[in-house]
Amino acid sequence: MTKDSSNAMWGGRFAAGPDAIMEAINASIGFDKRLAAQDIQGSRAHAAMLGSTGIITSSDAETIREGLLTVLSEIDGGEFPFSTALEDIHMNVEARLKALIGDAAGRLHTARSRNDQVATDFKLWVRDQIDAAMGGLKALIRALLTQAEAGAHWVMPGFTHLQTAQPVTWGHHMMAYVEMLGRDLSRFRDARARMNECPLGAAALAGTSFPIDRHMTAEALGFDRPSANSLDAVSDRDFALEFLSAASICAMHLSRFAEELVIWSSAQFRFVTLSDRFSTGSSIMPQKKNPDAAELIRAKIGRIFGANVALMMVMKGLPLAYSKDMQEDKEQVFDAADNLMLALAAMEGMVRDMSANVDALAAAAASGFSTATDLADWLVRALDLPFRDAHHVTGSLVAMAEARGCDLPDLTLADMQSVHGAITEDVFGVLGVANSVASRTSYGGTAPDQVRAQIARWKEKLG
Ligand code: ARG
Repeated sequence: MTKDSSNAMWGGRFAAGPDAIMEAINASIGFDKRLAAQDIQGSRAHAAMLGSTGIITSSDAETIREGLLTVLSEIDGGEFPFSTALEDIHMNVEARLKALIGDAAGRLHTARSRNDQVATDFKLWVRDQIDAAMGGLKALIRALLTQAEAGAHWVMPGFTHLQTAQPVTWGHHMMAYVEMLGRDLSRFRDARARMNECPLGAAALAGTSFPIDRHMTAEALGFDRPSANSLDAVSDRDFALEFLSAASICAMHLSRFAEELVIWSSAQFRFVTLSDRFSTGSSIMPQKKNPDAAELIRAKIGRIFGANVALMMVMKGLPLAYSKDMQEDKEQVFDAADNLMLALAAMEGMVRDMSANVDALAAAAASGFSTATDLADWLVRALDLPFRDAHHVTGSLVAMAEARGCDLPDLTLADMQSVHGAITEDVFGVLGVANSVASRTSYGGTAPDQVRAQIARWKEKLG
């Protein structure tokens, strides 16, 4: 091959162009074209800084700025000629800039390397995704608050081991997810604050001898400050990993809720009816209405957590500073981000549309001896039994009811007294489900008033 076929960007020391396989394994343009807007944003900040510090002339800086805007409009308009031979988004943009504005384009890469460039572009992209995730989380939390408010007092069974445990309120159950998603929100917020340092100007790894102004570029790109160590700046992907780990935990929460919706919408439970808009039918069984959105949300954690693990594996053995391995960061993060946003939006839609079957919830809440703990607590309070004894007496009464095929409130006072002679008529006051939930007034408990207080706190917090 002739020298002409080698790469125009770094072809100086190369006599031959790459093998087709080399090009295939090396090129990232197929996916990093998603960083185009961030790449141009970073280049504009860099060019403006080069102009204002006098490293390039202000007329070159202006020519570059206009050229970059043209490139951006070509990309937005779908007319940009992406080329695999140009490897990645950075070289594609620069080559196009050269075609548009000529020699001034060659000055843009002064005091910069693709290493600090890609770190900056990717950070800007991840930062946008964090903002989008936070927006999606807030929308979902609002939908949950609406559900919680409507049913702050609706009773339903609370489970442990998926066995009926104690009655709780619908509002309380919805608010449990609000707490989880609220922690997700704060994890994304923390990650955003920690990552918001600008790598641009770290150059290849060592910094540069040109009199650049890193504070200026950091500020122009909305970062809090420039990163303090150039080796770290080009080799750090913690920001992507923190995004993925916050995304994984968030997806895990969505998956748990999705699992509940799958169970709740089954004919055996009938706790909720999902809307047609978020369900699908079966091609063979006409009666079916399947909770596909919930099932897919339940499954998304796999790819999101997989991305987290994959990027950890990419990074774990890398010596400082940049290694090409790090090009493998993007597809994982892109895929995880796309699927997290989809899962958040689908969950919001499902929650907004779903209707609770209040009667089915109440009937289920009353079954399974769900007020047995209330009975034991009453024995402690009214008869001063030690809790362990009260537990034993209650266990005997549950066994009696079970043998008769009835619930606790269906036993007579005489039945009760056959197990413990001091039991009085008053016991029937605590066996009802509504009384049970109303009595759980401890802070954070399931009593409707407690739930309403938490709803009010969250509404104020979200503004
Ligand atoms: N496409 C590369 C990446 O995504 C850009 C950085 C390349 N740097 C280099 N020195 N080859 O990581």
